[in-house]
Amino acid sequence: MENKRGSWGSNIGFLLAAIGSAVGLGNIWGFPYKMGKSGGFTFLLVYLFLAIFVGLIIMASELALGRKTRKAPIAAYKAVSSKYSWLGWFAVLSPFLIMTFYSVLGGYCIYYVIINLIGLFGGMPDGSSFGAMLTSIPASIGVLLAFMAICFVIVAGGVSGGIEKFNKIGMPALFVMLLIIIVRALTLPNAVEGLKFMFIPGYAVAGGFIEEAPNLITVLGTAGGQMFFSLSLAMGAMITYGSYLGKEENLVKNSGIIVAADTIVALLAGIAVIPAAVANGINNGIPVNEIKLNGPGLLFKTLQDVFHNMGALGGVFGVIFYLLVLIAAISSAISLMEVLSAHFIDKAAENGKTLERKGVVLKVSAVITLIAILVAADGLGENGFAPAALLKAKVAGWNDCWLDFFDCWSEGIMMPLGAMLMALMIGGEIGPKVMLDEIHNGEHSPFFSKFYRFCVTYIVPAVMCLVLAGQLTDFFGNQIVSYIIAAVCFIIFSYHTLIPDWKKIDK
Ligand code: PHE
Repeated sequence: MENKRGSWGSNIGFLLAAIGSAVGLGNIWGFPYKMGKSGGFTFLLVYLFLAIFVGLIIMASELALGRKTRKAPIAAYKAVSSKYSWLGWFAVLSPFLIMTFYSVLGGYCIYYVIINLIGLFGGMPDGSSFGAMLTSIPASIGVLLAFMAICFVIVAGGVSGGIEKFNKIGMPALFVMLLIIIVRALTLPNAVEGLKFMFIPGYAVAGGFIEEAPNLITVLGTAGGQMFFSLSLAMGAMITYGSYLGKEENLVKNSGIIVAADTIVALLAGIAVIPAAVANGINNGIPVNEIKLNGPGLLFKTLQDVFHNMGALGGVFGVIFYLLVLIAAISSAISLMEVLSAHFIDKAAENGKTLERKGVVLKVSAVITLIAILVAADGLGENGFAPAALLKAKVAGWNDCWLDFFDCWSEGIMMPLGAMLMALMIGGEIGPKVMLDEIHNGEHSPFFSKFYRFCVTYIVPAVMCLVLAGQLTDFFGNQIVSYIIAAVCFIIFSYHTLIPDWKKIDK
């Protein structure tokens, strides 16, 4: 398959790149801490349900939409109907907003690799390094610039020459490193308490970790948001990666492998992180309900304390662990940057121009970096210029720091809205049959077809309403208002798919 846009060298190369996009901070950081916050086992069950009935369906649909249209998101949605261009804009704006903080977190990983490397020679750092890093503006910005430079080099290298190459080495390396960390974590005394928290129903409360289990709807909102983010869905990434994929590749199998691999890595990351944090807490006399499994501190504070307390080899495990998180962060960040770069490259091609990839990626990187500097300097709200501080407003989920502000727009609002509309668009406009034709490429598997039709028509839209309501509640606090907004969006979007399609471009 030859074309100027670039293409994958092989199906396995595509798979590793897509898994690389999916496996990121969402798995290694988000999954364990959201599980910690949402009652352990219940969260796990809900997550698995969502991954199979919603994640798999949207994954196959996005890959199919990309491959069918051979275009980046805006043009791909436009090819369905010009009335969906704005949905494409969501899928380009979200990756941009995500990159403004994802790059900062990626920079933090570089910082932690460095301090653990230094720790190898004595004076192992502990969890207090987190505060020190956040309040050191030059350090935070310095590591951000390093992270962006690495991503620039990879994405500028092209689809198969840069992205695929990095993932072919990075993904297997990440997996091996994760296994090493799991063995170390599970051999810590009392690690079994952490495993019980994860896998025994009700143990989060019975074992004294949390006082009361959150209600199912809250768990559904959290798990749904997590699942979308973790699988890189509704952000244009899988549409873009799908657009480089050969017609002969099996989309059902590929989607299944990506979803399974992402879920397995999330679970493995949980098994590496939660038992280590719990064991370290218990071994140091901290009551279980005070062990911080929850929130951003888990990865950079609690775990650094674990490595600090490991003795002589702590630094080695620290370097391995943060290096694996860094690889995960890079492999996801490059997919976000590819969405943006592909958009500009395709747009120019539409107007008969050819843009040089390097120049486009450089501009994309520069704009992201400019805004990310604000997020880095803010230091999760530590340095006094978070939106709430600037607006002199009450502190809420959306305004407590710039990271949460950008996250609220992208992951909290655009992502669930985009996914909801996409499901309605498939159900009401394109029709599951057209999607299935592309997914199966002419050859139907009756079981998957039935499953797909059922999920895309009923389960996905319903779940997206709940996820949107859950995300809005998370950021803005008012549950009833959030449900009303979600329901109104659902009605408007359903109506949207019924509006006669006056400017059909290609169907
Ligand atoms: N899936 C990535 C993670 O888990 C984040 C991501 C979201 C990447 C959307 C690309 C697109 O961290």
